[in-house]
Amino acid sequence: MKIMEIEGGNDLNGTIRISGAKNATVALIPAAILTDEEATICNIPEITDTDALCDILSSLNVNVKRASESMIIDPTNIKNIEIKEEFSKKLRASYYFMGALLGKYKKAVMYFPGGCSIGARPIDLHLKGFEALGATVKNELNKYIVEAEELHGANIYLDIASVGATINIMLAAVKAKGTTIIDNAAKEPEIVNVATFLNNMGAKITGAGTSTIKIEGVDYLHKCFHEVIPDRIEAGTYIIIGALCGNPLKIDNVIPEHLDALLSKLEEMGVDLEIGADYVITSRNNYYKSTSIKTAVYPGFPTDLQQPFTVLQTQCDGKSKTTETIFENRFMHVPYLKELGADVEIKNQTATILGPSKLKGSQVVATDLRAGASMVAAALKAEGKTTITNAEHILRGYEQIVEKLTNVGAKIKIKEI
Ligand code: UD1
Repeated sequence: MKIMEIEGGNDLNGTIRISGAKNATVALIPAAILTDEEATICNIPEITDTDALCDILSSLNVNVKRASESMIIDPTNIKNIEIKEEFSKKLRASYYFMGALLGKYKKAVMYFPGGCSIGARPIDLHLKGFEALGATVKNELNKYIVEAEELHGANIYLDIASVGATINIMLAAVKAKGTTIIDNAAKEPEIVNVATFLNNMGAKITGAGTSTIKIEGVDYLHKCFHEVIPDRIEAGTYIIIGALCGNPLKIDNVIPEHLDALLSKLEEMGVDLEIGADYVITSRNNYYKSTSIKTAVYPGFPTDLQQPFTVLQTQCDGKSKTTETIFENRFMHVPYLKELGADVEIKNQTATILGPSKLKGSQVVATDLRAGASMVAAALKAEGKTTITNAEHILRGYEQIVEKLTNVGAKIKIKEI
């Protein structure tokens, strides 16, 4: 197990450069096997989720060359064999191999994906989409066998605008015969990034980023070069940390429009913000107005930033509320936030936070990736030492977090016990 130790209460000053987006990368790597030649992807973050996907590629005999932030994926000698449970359970995004293998080879065999335990997280919409394209789905225990004689275009309406289902159906439909329409599609920037990647290979996808995506099937996907967009969730996390401890903190390599919901909430609270074309500068303030948020699909307030944001709400004057509408189990950080001195009550899916609270170092747990990020933010603000156990969750999504924070003056260490 990994343990993070943070000596908090210090100002942070300098620049943090944002890495490539985790949630785009984890879809782009499986999507790369759709090419009939090879795909080069740059700005890939070095996070453990990337390593886990590379392990799956190797198990399928896909040739992968990694050099610093780029990756060349050559699926020419791929063997479409079962993806073992030990691989699929390491992360949520392993499920993108279902859509990609089905789209290319008309068959995928793999186990239910892993990922953060933030709710039930079923994959029924993905499977319904595959069935609409002509596939049959067999589920034995935890294993899924999805296959088709031929995939054909279909009109698919998603009951929920799911990020995973939108991307997975896109991957399965890209080589199907005819036209597929996904209605009530999710609109997250990572979906646009994946559609651009596929179009760079010769796919015909329009409408990504809107709620209707149209995919005209093609027979061949050629060589391509692609760049991962900056990680809006990593950026948002550090912007929140800047509002807690910045003096000042510059967050560089950001697409500010991807963070509109967060930035306007911060402005409403009275956070000092300088928003440039590709950067945001924040500083801590002694007084923040209380504010309430409700998570929603993009462009609403991202559920992935809800947990770090609650830390900032502990510093607001009066009562703030956070309502989680996407995942039913995303307040697991709250008991630990209270352990650090916050005043928070949860009722149904709403956390009520009374501030401002003086946070003090203690022993806490990173129960999942973004809960872990919220513990880092709280520990940096808290006076004294905080120990965060299960810190490996944090490394799944934040590239070089210890180095990035150390460079701006944080006292942070990670060790294995
Ligand atoms: C992705 C992100 C995650 C983010 C989430 C919402 C990745 C790897 N993960 O997760 O970081 O928090 O989007 O922005 O990109 N649902 C169903 N049936 C399905 C699919 C989803 O009921 O078949 C439900 C989920 O349980 C959840 C909601 O729909 O309540 C949204 O889930 P979804 O958008 O699919 O999230 P993920 O793709 O799992």
